[in-house]
Amino acid sequence: MRLDKVLADMGLGTRTELKKAIRKGCVTVNRQVVTDAAFSIREEEPPEITYLGKRVEYHPFEYYMMNKPAGVLTATADRHQQTVLDLMSAERRRDLFPVGRLDKDTEGLLLLTNDGVLAHRLLAPRFHVDKLYEAKICGSLTGDDVRKFREGIRYDENLTAEPAALEILETGGSSSRARITIHEGKFHQVKKMVEALGDGRKVMTLKRLRMGPLVLDPALAPGDARPLTEEERALLYQCAGISYNPKT
Ligand code: URA
Repeated sequence: MRLDKVLADMGLGTRTELKKAIRKGCVTVNRQVVTDAAFSIREEEPPEITYLGKRVEYHPFEYYMMNKPAGVLTATADRHQQTVLDLMSAERRRDLFPVGRLDKDTEGLLLLTNDGVLAHRLLAPRFHVDKLYEAKICGSLTGDDVRKFREGIRYDENLTAEPAALEILETGGSSSRARITIHEGKFHQVKKMVEALGDGRKVMTLKRLRMGPLVLDPALAPGDARPLTEEERALLYQCAGISYNPKT
């Protein structure tokens, strides 16, 4: 990758600003000043880069777990509303994106990365990555509802959800709490499946707790994000059938 692109991805400025800075001699690669913005960086073996005398930690791929709060869009940018990327630190790299989508009012586990291959595989139906949600539901739930989920609910004229697991945690009276595991990720899927149970049942709050092997860290406050541990990253790669190289 070009040197100016590497520095821009790391959030150090625009490509134009960085080209100028490189030309002025503000950047070293392996302790040599480099003035050519097109200088090629091998991502698999990143050299030692400094910008304005400070070491630039470059990794081709980065992975973060966020505890998404309700009220924030799962998008990279929006003109009017706050997005999950607005919640990340200003020094973050520029090419991160959320893997999959949680509704604006849904909370919980969201993976952010710049690794397109991993993201694609985690979302691809053939990899069957399960997602676990906890929902507060208006109305009570019964064993019959558990059976309907297990058999696959038809929730739109042409859409039938694949078999899913409904575990009732609390029920009775006007509301229930349940854990729901789905293997797909269709638009508003959990909400629509609950509505399809009928009798006015509706999701009131929804929180994602797990995606494949990745479990929401209970120490993360809503709106906070942290890098994945090596172990979490290795588990995700394994689940997506990608060989793991801790150096990248
Ligand atoms: N299902 C939904 O209905 N909404 C989400 O945000 C995620 C899954």
